[in-house]
Amino acid sequence: MKVVLVGNGGREAALAWRIASSPSLGALIVTGSNPGWPGVATVVPASGAEAIARLCASEQPDLVVVGPEAPLAEGLADRLEALGIPCFGPSREAARLETSKAFAKQIMAEAGVPTAGHLEVDKDDPQSVERAMARIAQGDVVVKVDGLAAGKGVFVCHTEAEAREALDEVWSGRFGDAARHVVLEDRMEGPEVSVFGITDGGRVVGLPASQDHKALLDGNQGPNTGGMGAYAPCPLLDDAAVEEIIETVHRPVVRVMAERGTPFRGVLFAGLMLTKDGPRVLEFNARFGDPETQPLMCLWEDDILPWLAGAARGDLPHGAPRFRDGAACCVVLASRGYPVTSEKDVIIPEPPRAEDVVVFHAGTRRGDDGLLRTSGGRVLGITGLGDSVQDARAKAYEALDGWAFDGAQWRTDIGGSVG
Ligand code: GLY
Repeated sequence: MKVVLVGNGGREAALAWRIASSPSLGALIVTGSNPGWPGVATVVPASGAEAIARLCASEQPDLVVVGPEAPLAEGLADRLEALGIPCFGPSREAARLETSKAFAKQIMAEAGVPTAGHLEVDKDDPQSVERAMARIAQGDVVVKVDGLAAGKGVFVCHTEAEAREALDEVWSGRFGDAARHVVLEDRMEGPEVSVFGITDGGRVVGLPASQDHKALLDGNQGPNTGGMGAYAPCPLLDDAAVEEIIETVHRPVVRVMAERGTPFRGVLFAGLMLTKDGPRVLEFNARFGDPETQPLMCLWEDDILPWLAGAARGDLPHGAPRFRDGAACCVVLASRGYPVTSEKDVIIPEPPRAEDVVVFHAGTRRGDDGLLRTSGGRVLGITGLGDSVQDARAKAYEALDGWAFDGAQWRTDIGGSVG
């Protein structure tokens, strides 16, 4: 099978690593550079839906796997469909489950999916702004920018003052048109988990639950980031609990999307909060999570391509993918200044390979001098494998010391406490 993989971050490094092990793989083309690509990958640079579709029209792959959300929001899957090329990743309309918080709420209501109560606000509609002010006066609200906001559009507010400040910031112009609409959601409490369902638009299979650590600092302190580490499986949801979530969340949503004539194909990522009243959906994403994908790919045991290609073509294999026993834990090394800025060109030491550890590159580049250097915020995902989460995290942290570069930031509690 000839595969094009779109994206070049840590998530895509993990997907490429797993795809490279597939007996079904003939050739792997990647659309950006990453010093950690497997040897089999060939880089053909392309960015933006139009350029990537052009590349695919010329390469005629059997499958395109889309890592990030941006090309999906730009309609890459629609362009590929017009070319007759199977795409793992939804159409622009189906990707609205991620690109519009208000749309996701509407679909959840139609599908009967448990989620927090909410109010939609249109900045240009004085009545809806008035309703918003009445709601925030009650406190305990989450302010969410409706459109894509690079992970920075969610503000958890306890007091009216915090909510007013959040709305001021959201409407300051920083988020552009994405923030014209805002969703005000009732604040919930509980641990967060990520549940991915692979779907061909009809059937859905669940992957083991994982848990991301979004705050920069230990103990979930400090600013939010793209994710400072993740582990799987998350013991808060065993296989039966994951299947129940797939049945009550993913399948109803996939059914509603199909009934609307806009089937969702690819991976539906539900970010959930486990409240005292049961699991509630916080958000959907139309792609794999980063860094949740890093541990999940380490655990994925059988040939991944029939699953990705089956989802893309509308004929998902029967049964469920096999995952190895044990656990995997990914600790992110980020550069100095992250998440506000990122220090570039810092030399990264490259220790010898450690057993049961896979290092996924994200913000790295190899200079003309052959040295590995930082080139972004999240730099490396040091991923340990073990018999248990404790064992896997010990392996990751043991290996991490060797990779720590000047100014590197990391959390010391990834997978350390459940919840
Ligand atoms: N880890 C969260 C995300 O990928 O959005």
